[in-house]
Formats: sequence, structure tokens, C-alpha cells
Amino acid sequence: MSQTRSPMKVRKAVFPVGGLGTRFLPATKSMPKEMLPVVDKPLIHYAFEEAKAAGIEQFIFVTGRNKHAIEDHFDHSYELQSTLSQKNKKKELELTSNWLPKAGNVSFTRQQEPMGLGHAVWCARHLIGNEPFAVILADDMVLSKQPCLKQMIEAYDDVGGNILGVMDVPLEKTSSYGIVDIDKSAKNKDKRIVKAKGLVEKPAPADAPSTLSIIGRYILQPDVFSILDKQKPGAGGEIQLTDAICSMIGKQGVHGYRFEGVRYDCGSLVGFVAANVAYSLERTETRERVVDELKEVFKRAGLK
Ligand code: UTP
Repeated sequence: MSQTRSPMKVRKAVFPVGGLGTRFLPATKSMPKEMLPVVDKPLIHYAFEEAKAAGIEQFIFVTGRNKHAIEDHFDHSYELQSTLSQKNKKKELELTSNWLPKAGNVSFTRQQEPMGLGHAVWCARHLIGNEPFAVILADDMVLSKQPCLKQMIEAYDDVGGNILGVMDVPLEKTSSYGIVDIDKSAKNKDKRIVKAKGLVEKPAPADAPSTLSIIGRYILQPDVFSILDKQKPGAGGEIQLTDAICSMIGKQGVHGYRFEGVRYDCGSLVGFVAANVAYSLERTETRERVVDELKEVFKRAGLK
């Protein structure tokens, strides 16, 4: 089902960071959730690195109130850099700035009110224009051999249209996700790609068409903006991105991509703690010491 012409390159990524992060209060009272660190990098930094590794050239952040720290993170910090330079701390200096995107390749726009993910993405419409784009939710982390968005861009090069990062969840959890209604008659040579014939936002387990849930990775066609223009609030009174993508089914391709890797829901406390453990175990310099410390912690808590 490959297309004859390659689809238009995905050059831009939107990072919606306008949410309130209420599950992390009081930590998020004056600090954005997306600046919470997993080991030693903020969530948004991992998201940026993933986009860069997937070939993204333009990074668009949809921010809100209390989000200045994100803008500062993607800028020079002259005082710190000059102090580190005077002290000849080369490694630390590199960590502050050698990864910064080129001037002009980062943009910020405001979502004045957190009216939902669909609304946040719509706020980026003028910065995206008429080309396909990626959306990355920084609080969904995917630990994988190949960056999740890169995997999805390869799938997009194959089938084009709209691609959603998907994974199976336990049936009792469907009400926390957008769920894919799979078109089983459409077969693809890549078994990770599934065609959607419908999408349902946060269905009760009894109403869920499958257990295949959408996580915070999307490749979308700009046509989604004209649907979002008229989109009414859906589940939770928010303007849902899932509902807008669902309206595109039948007019253009919408596929799920079962990515390789483990997803950590860093928007939840438990997922965030698990991500910190998992990512620290990935680092050779900390792995052994973390294992030893964790063994002690478990022992003290009366666990094996
Ligand atoms: P969440 O659903 O986790 O919402 O958003 P939240 O407000 O950040 O957190 P809680 O539920 O209150 O704890 C998923 C992603 O979408 C962004 C968030 O910033 C987060 O990165 N988002 C959500 C927006 O940008 N705007 C919105 O209106 C809602």
C-alpha cells in the first residue's frame, strides 16, 4: 500500500506545553511540568532531542502562563556560561549550550487558556502553514533503540497521511486514552502499521473498539487545522485532538504505528518515578550504583 510519490517531508514539530500540570502540584505551582527533570534533563529536552534525531528543523512551542522557564531553557544563559568559561568547565559549558537550535529555528506561541490538546495544536496553525508536521507531548517518554518519532517518520514515508504513535493498554485503562478502531481488512507489509477506521476519545472499557491507544506522538496533515477551527469541546469539556483527527478518516489516511520501545507516562506520578529509574539504569556511569541504592531502598521498605 506504498504511495508512488514520497509524501512531503516533515520539517516542523509542535510541542504543546500549555497544560496546567495539576497532577504535579505543588511542584508545578510556579514551574512548568515539562521542566521536571528525568535524571538530569527536563522532559522537554528529551522531546526536543527526539525531534532533532528525527530530522525536525523547526521547533514550535505552544506555551501558557508560568512557562518562561521553557523559553529560557532554549536560549543562552550568558551569566552561567561566562562563569563556567572562567572556571574552564568545558563539559558543563557544552551541556548549557552546544545543543541549542540555530537562531530562528525555535518559535513560541501562546495558548491563553488551556482549552485542550486540540486547541493547543490549533494555536500553532500560522507557524505551521500548509505542510505536514509532528506533535510531541513531552510528558510521554519513549525509551527505544531508535527514537519513536524517527520510527514514525519512516512509516509516514511509506503510507503518508496522518500517523499516530500507538500501543496496547490493559482493557481497564481505555478510559484514559484515545482508542483506535482498527480497519482489519487493510493489510500492510509492515505489521507495525494499522489503518484506523475510527477513533474514540477515552471510551469506557465496554465501549472501547480495541485496546490500541494513542500516545503523545503524531504526524499530521495541515488539513487538521480547518477541522479544529470548528471543533466543539469533547470529552472533559476540552477541544480534543483525537476528535479532529477522527473527522479526517475517509478523506485521508489515518494510521496507527505500533512503535518499538517502552513508553513512560511522565504526566502521572508513578510513570514519572518509573522513568527516572529506567533512564538512570540506561546510563552506564550510574547503572550499578542505582541498582545498589534501589536494593537498599527496597530492603528498608520490607520488599525483596
Ligand atoms: P495533560 O493531559 O497531561 O494535561 O496534557 P496537563 O494540564 O498538562 O496535566 P494535568 O492533567 O493537569 O496534570 C498533555 C500535554 O498537552 C499539553 C500539556 O502541557 C501536556 O504537555 N496541553 C494540554 C496543552 O498544551 N494545552 C492544553 O490545553 C492541555
